[in-house]
Amino acid sequence: MNLPTLQEQSATNKKVILRADLDVKKLKTNENERLKNLLPTLSYLSENKAKTVIIGHRGRTGGEVSEKLSLKPVAEKLREISGKNIDFIDEVVGEKVKAKVNEIKPGEFLMLENLRFDKREEENDEGFTKSLASFGEVYVNDAFSVSHRKHSSIVSLPKLLQSCIGFHFSNEIKHLEKVLNNPKNPVVFVISGIKQDKINFFEKLEGTADKILVAGRLPEYIHDTSPLRENVKYVIGRLMPDKEDITVKSIEKFEKEISSAGTIIVSGPMGKFEEEGHQMGTKRVLKAVSNSDAFKVAGGGNTEAAITKFSLEDKFDWISTGGGAMLEFLSTGTLLGLIALSKDVN
Ligand code: 3PG
Repeated sequence: MNLPTLQEQSATNKKVILRADLDVKKLKTNENERLKNLLPTLSYLSENKAKTVIIGHRGRTGGEVSEKLSLKPVAEKLREISGKNIDFIDEVVGEKVKAKVNEIKPGEFLMLENLRFDKREEENDEGFTKSLASFGEVYVNDAFSVSHRKHSSIVSLPKLLQSCIGFHFSNEIKHLEKVLNNPKNPVVFVISGIKQDKINFFEKLEGTADKILVAGRLPEYIHDTSPLRENVKYVIGRLMPDKEDITVKSIEKFEKEISSAGTIIVSGPMGKFEEEGHQMGTKRVLKAVSNSDAFKVAGGGNTEAAITKFSLEDKFDWISTGGGAMLEFLSTGTLLGLIALSKDVN
């Protein structure tokens, strides 16, 4: 895939807008991996004396401001992890932000408040996009995990500026392309978790997948008469009565499919693994994946948290930051955020 990269841009002394992946839940835990992924891009920008505005979202806000989803503690954590000068402003657009942006010194950073506190981000609003664009000359997307969303900072902002992808994004593509291009068969997807919208990927993945194992809360959304239940490609897990994990029989069926796979992609935990009483499905399935000789990829914040909890990080060939974004990329070979980077697609 031939994409515009950061090295091809002249960022030196330029005003750069970095769309970062800042969607971290608990800042004390391993989820700081998402922030650590930004370090190569941050270093490059500071070494090249760019004046960088960092933008991103945290959680699903419904367009409302909430202290719980503020990016202020994320800015503090990123400052601590990177050792860079990262200032923060508790607004997204407006005169106060503009003035602060103009004060950024070469090699330094300013993080804006959660983009999703302004509902115009998710509405992909033109005026909002223009306001964001006024803060920079170059746009860098290092937010792979949200690049399947038709949001202002992902699909419209890059069209108004000189645009490229960051180092982490580039790494995601390099590893995930191994699943798309001549994967070792059979290709087995394990799709779980609580985000119901993952079901929308099933049909699109049928071309790539030999088997799709479904767990987490997703079986709840597939009714008993759904054609998916008759389709040989699918193994739909049964849930325990409290719906917090899959049954032992389902775990065994999953283990069998996993043992003969050539490529395995895991997106989402099997159950509420955070609680001792509901972690058997996630633990056993992830262990089965880890013990396999297949090419192994996992993706999404919760999946990564589960893998880390059971100390299996080293067993995977790639752990993607994207849950939905990874599935979108693997089912279509691209992302809305990537399409937006090529100016001729406007
Ligand atoms: C993620 O964590 O998957 C991304 O931040 C996207 O979040 P969303 O599903 O709320 O758009």
